[in-house]
Amino acid sequence: MNSRLTLAFDSGLPLPSDGQIGVFHPRAGMDLGSLPRDRVRIIQPLRPDHDAFAALGYATAPQADPDDRFALTLVCLPRAKPLARALVAQAVACTDGPVVVDGAKTDSIDSLLRDTRKRADIAGQLSKAHGKLFWFAADPEAFADWRPPEEQVIDGFRTAPGVFSADGIDPASQLLVDHLPHHVGNHVADLGAGWGYLSAHLLRDPKVQVLHLVEADHAALDCARLNVTDPRARLHWADALTWAAPGPVDAVVMNPPFHNNARAADPGLGRGFIETAARILSPRGQLWMVANRHLPYEQALAAHFAQTAEIAGDNRFKVLHAARPSRARR
Ligand SMILES: C[S@@+](CC[C@H](N)C(=O)[O-])C[C@H]1O[C@@H](n2cnc3c(N)ncnc32)[C@H](O)[C@@H]1O
Repeated sequence: MNSRLTLAFDSGLPLPSDGQIGVFHPRAGMDLGSLPRDRVRIIQPLRPDHDAFAALGYATAPQADPDDRFALTLVCLPRAKPLARALVAQAVACTDGPVVVDGAKTDSIDSLLRDTRKRADIAGQLSKAHGKLFWFAADPEAFADWRPPEEQVIDGFRTAPGVFSADGIDPASQLLVDHLPHHVGNHVADLGAGWGYLSAHLLRDPKVQVLHLVEADHAALDCARLNVTDPRARLHWADALTWAAPGPVDAVVMNPPFHNNARAADPGLGRGFIETAARILSPRGQLWMVANRHLPYEQALAAHFAQTAEIAGDNRFKVLHAARPSRARR
């Protein structure tokens, strides 16, 4: 099936004859075959998607460099509106030719097109496969109000557009913190650490020696770097499903992600996090996690730990504890 991008080139979108082509935030599996691969630079902060394009031979980076110039930029629309706007504003500022925006209806491409039309002349557009693609060239100043603030501080923490819980402390993480013992272990891992809320709490314990923050979203980790400046913190831009701890871990604390690439509620990722916890924990290590009440993690916990219990909860969330990992491999 032709992608919207291929159709756009067939319908008049000009491909500049030279210069770099920026592709912002494409998800793994997206068909970029109509672009000359040797001129493409993929900007993708999510580690698994970033690595998928790197494995295909694309030049990749987690974020654009300030001096990047592109002859054409393709923005793959994320769901979060502030991030979508920030990416378009950034693309307009660093592109000398057309800015192309591609997105699904469920990611509000129609409303972004309406808002873009108020700031720029749309040169072309097409609809296909429950989505839309449009292109335009514009004055960066017309999009100045879409640039993110220099500093986004919420509840005393730095956050950024599009990162998990950008507007404040997540209530599930708050519940977990309220039920953690004061000392969880000397060597600790926070899987899916986000902008660092759980880690900041864990480092209040002076007995913690090393705390690993493992996070797939580079933008969230950049915030965590500002929120968790304690020298005991080690930040890892990594996929928690495959991450190997550099040494034995006494405790894993986590609020695992519950949405898949298609943004459907999916306990599969959380189960993968549970497997990683069992794999990196020492034989006497323990796991504390919080989850949406309706997500079925109990079976995965029982498969990987000899002892499991729900230690707290309300009608929305549950706090789970597990000990004695049965497949403690490192
Ligand atoms: C529910 S949020 C929790 C964030 C943070 N711990 C908190 O309490 O605010 C889950 C986090 O996992 C991250 N994440 C998603 N998939 C991941 C993966 N495969 N590896 C590592 N982190 C991942 C998300 O970017 C998100 O920051």
